[in-house]
Amino acid sequence: MIILKSDREIEIMRQAGRISQMALDAVRKSVKPGVSTLELDMIAYDVIKSNGAIPAFLNYNGYPNSICASVDDEIVHGIPRADRILEEGQIISIDVGAIWGGYVGDNADTVGVGNISDEAKKLIEVTRNSFFAGLEFCKEGHRLGDVSAAIGDYAESRGYGVVKDYVGHGIGQQMHMEPSVPNYGKPGRGVRLNKGLTIAIEPMINIGTYKTKVMPDGWTVKTQDGSLSAHFEHTVAITDGEPILLTEL
Ligand code: MF3
Ligand code: CO
Repeated sequence: MIILKSDREIEIMRQAGRISQMALDAVRKSVKPGVSTLELDMIAYDVIKSNGAIPAFLNYNGYPNSICASVDDEIVHGIPRADRILEEGQIISIDVGAIWGGYVGDNADTVGVGNISDEAKKLIEVTRNSFFAGLEFCKEGHRLGDVSAAIGDYAESRGYGVVKDYVGHGIGQQMHMEPSVPNYGKPGRGVRLNKGLTIAIEPMINIGTYKTKVMPDGWTVKTQDGSLSAHFEHTVAITDGEPILLTEL
């Protein structure tokens, strides 16, 4: 069942989203060689708590931290660690969520550590652009398949691997709700987009294969071929006009 939100609920979600983006922004600004992924986690935790919110990931299905920090060939769900020290030239995907007023905001971005290769820069750009290609269809009159197809086609037509094992999701009073939001699909299929639908759209794009593997820690997901992966996510509200990015400052 899909739960549509009232304007009042969307306003609350905007605040939850704003806090999520503040945490993501603070982490983004702290990424540099020599910093551990656990330090980044603590920065996000502090921003979320000092704004009166709750880290959405912490203890979610037993997840141990407030952010996911996925480096290089790690796609998503990288667990922060004190001994995971960032090095020049790496890329890191940071995913963070906050609960405020009973509603969840969820967002992610990928940034370079110091100077990065042109191919890494291109991957990050394509991933970000694929999100915005999908966002174009986040309007009443379209279906979810239009959004999914736009994202997947954008990245695949440029030769990238589009992750299929993990998808975006409906979001509201819980982080993961219906409908699921794949980054691939067929135009004209899937649920109709109506005002009040709130979804987390999160393309995960690889330079090589789309295939994934889960590490022995039970969380960290990597590319099967060791190629670099990037992740970009916003929580989005469908309106009767343009979509709202709820996870914006
Ligand atoms: N954005 C991720 C997702 O939607 C965040 C979940 S990480 C978890 O799946 F650790 F909380 F599960
Ligand atoms: Co998400």
